[in-house]
Amino acid sequence: MYHSKISGVGHYVPENVVTNDDLSKVMDTNDAWIQERTGIQERRHIKKGDGNSTSIMGVKASEIALERARLKPDAIDMIVFATLSPDMYFPGGGVQVQEMMGMRTIPALDVRNQCSGFVYALSVADQFIKTGMYKHILVIGSENHSGGLDFTTRGRGVSVIFGDGAGAVVLSRSDKEGKGILSTHLHSEGKHKDELALQGPSTEHWVPEIIEENPQENIPYYPYMNGQFVFKHAVVRFSEVIMEGLTANNLQVDDIDLLIPHQANLRISQFIQQKFKLTDDKVYNNIQRYGNTTAASIPIALSEAWAEGKLQEGDLLVLAAFGSGFTWGSAMIRW
Ligand code: UT7
Repeated sequence: MYHSKISGVGHYVPENVVTNDDLSKVMDTNDAWIQERTGIQERRHIKKGDGNSTSIMGVKASEIALERARLKPDAIDMIVFATLSPDMYFPGGGVQVQEMMGMRTIPALDVRNQCSGFVYALSVADQFIKTGMYKHILVIGSENHSGGLDFTTRGRGVSVIFGDGAGAVVLSRSDKEGKGILSTHLHSEGKHKDELALQGPSTEHWVPEIIEENPQENIPYYPYMNGQFVFKHAVVRFSEVIMEGLTANNLQVDDIDLLIPHQANLRISQFIQQKFKLTDDKVYNNIQRYGNTTAASIPIALSEAWAEGKLQEGDLLVLAAFGSGFTWGSAMIRW
């Protein structure tokens, strides 16, 4: 059995900053409400004509990750691309990255696990490395939320939360036991699939049907979220899956050097921090600046935390995510 380690991290966010005050000009919301409920101060949105898309942002983040891993695109054996906002219904973002980065005809796999997408993608890549099938895998989380949100007052419960951006890591084969990815833990509970969902356009809600029905409430081509229900489940599942990872490795909460939770809501992160009695320096949050970037949030935060020197060799890094599906997961990583 081989071992896998993160050999490079990178992220990219569009330049266009959208503040809470900017949003209050197009819908009935305000800075105080958004900050109090979510901690978000601003987020980035792709601007028409700025040349960005989900796959292009994924490429920009990947180029940095590859450079930091000191690898050329030719060295990559596989792409795993996590997003809920692909450029096209099909094919997925992975093949677009393969083309744009001029990679060999390597496999490109798309993962559709929303906020847990990056943890799922990392876990998939980890298995391919550990079995010895591949040496270097590019794992990407990228989202263009702003292109598909309802920026009227009707959509304010969802649209103020989400932002655009991408993060990427290179996962590489390593011979060091007890280092790198120690374990990953994945879960789902599909009975709550309707609580946070975008119904269409899809084969269940096809375009003519949407146009014909054109309901005023719950429009199926905008995301729906039962916020309080999701919040309550999130705090329970985050805690469970972090404990599951620690227990599987005979570790304690005190062993955590850095927790990077999926940036769903600052209040969720703070709840977990208080529950585990972790000091501020042990929990990394950047939702204040980027909002919730779904599959991209963990790799963006990881890339920033690494660049700020918050990860030292030997540190125990814990990643944890929860979101639509419901799906949730964690990764225990010895840096
Ligand atoms: O990453 C994927 C997982 N997602 C999450 O983890 C999200 C979890 N949930 C949440 O973060 C929170 O539930 C929200 C931030 C989405 C909402 O906060 P909340 O405290 O649950 O608010 P609420 O939905 O219960 O709404 C409270 C009030 C309502 O008004 P009334 O009915 O009390 O008059 C809403 O209409 O706030 C109103 N409201 C807003 N007001 C100003 C909802 N959105 C807004 C807004 N600005 N943007």
